[in-house]
Amino acid sequence: MFRHTKFLQFEAKPERPDPYYARKLQELIGGAYGEMTVTMQYLFQGWNCRIEGKYKDLIMDTATEEIGHVEMLATMVARLLEGAPATATAEAAQDPVMAAVLGGMDPQQAIVSGGGAVPADSNGTPWNGKYIVASGNLLADFRANAAAEAQGRLQTARLYNMTEDPGVKEMLKFNLARDTVHQKQWLRAIEELQADGLESDIAPGALLDEEDQTHNNTIWHLSDGPDGNKGTWSSGEDRIEYLMDPKPLGGPGSAPKPAPELYVTYAANGSGNGSTAAEPAELAEGDVETFYADGRWKNQVVGNSRASSTGDTKAEAQAEGRELARKRGVAHVVRRKDGEIAERHEYGR
Ligand SMILES: [Fe+2]
Ligand SMILES: [Fe+2]
Repeated sequence: MFRHTKFLQFEAKPERPDPYYARKLQELIGGAYGEMTVTMQYLFQGWNCRIEGKYKDLIMDTATEEIGHVEMLATMVARLLEGAPATATAEAAQDPVMAAVLGGMDPQQAIVSGGGAVPADSNGTPWNGKYIVASGNLLADFRANAAAEAQGRLQTARLYNMTEDPGVKEMLKFNLARDTVHQKQWLRAIEELQADGLESDIAPGALLDEEDQTHNNTIWHLSDGPDGNKGTWSSGEDRIEYLMDPKPLGGPGSAPKPAPELYVTYAANGSGNGSTAAEPAELAEGDVETFYADGRWKNQVVGNSRASSTGDTKAEAQAEGRELARKRGVAHVVRRKDGEIAERHEYGR
């Protein structure tokens, strides 16, 4: 059950009307990171929360507060629109200042809502339920909440600089403060979920053994320049490996032959595109392969009849294979247990 109190959480009184600014404020009501979004996001997270107690209560406390923020903003918008032109626009528009105001005003705030706020953003795009995140996984959701409050505070800060009205600024100061504490609380709640043993630092903390271990600790260097390698993430004990020269692991991504009834432009032999599909890179004589056989991880130079080295773990063998390939200036191919190529690195000179 929800109850309504006839008092605003904080005062929402502009010193004077400003229909142009009323439109801008719509972003904080019905924008992707507006108060309607956090309201609905927290309400659905709370309704879907499967543990009674501190987490659910924190979510519902905040959800209910956010309804009050929608109310404050809607009230502010209505007051900013007080006296906004509703008639005789042709005459009013002859005054250049008035024309500017009319030009910048949200027509829906006059035509549709009669001088009040609308559930839309500053460009009139209607609020959308797909803006919200409520997954039932509290770690994933709390991270989304901290991000939503950060975006909300960012936009509030920008809007704070777009007005000189002391009354509007007064309310936005309060909103900024609430966005600050909401960010803090969600970040603290994330730590608490971990401390309580409910979640770890990856969401979800399941299937970590099943996921492809070859690919859970590498950053693919896929944009120009070497700077992505300069963060602390790629140094130290627990570094994420930076793949300087990553190669595609799959074949060409060609779509299948279309059904004739779809009239898709198609040529069976690929003619007309001026080229033939590239063959996936083959292993050349002298390249180094890391693979699994007879219960061990091995490194072998292509063309040699015997393994150069073996290792107890894949990581150990892979590191040795990488060294060998670097020294020889050849490609290093790492296979999964099932023999499929998982990684390929070029160390060619
Ligand atoms: Fe809020
Ligand atoms: Fe908030």
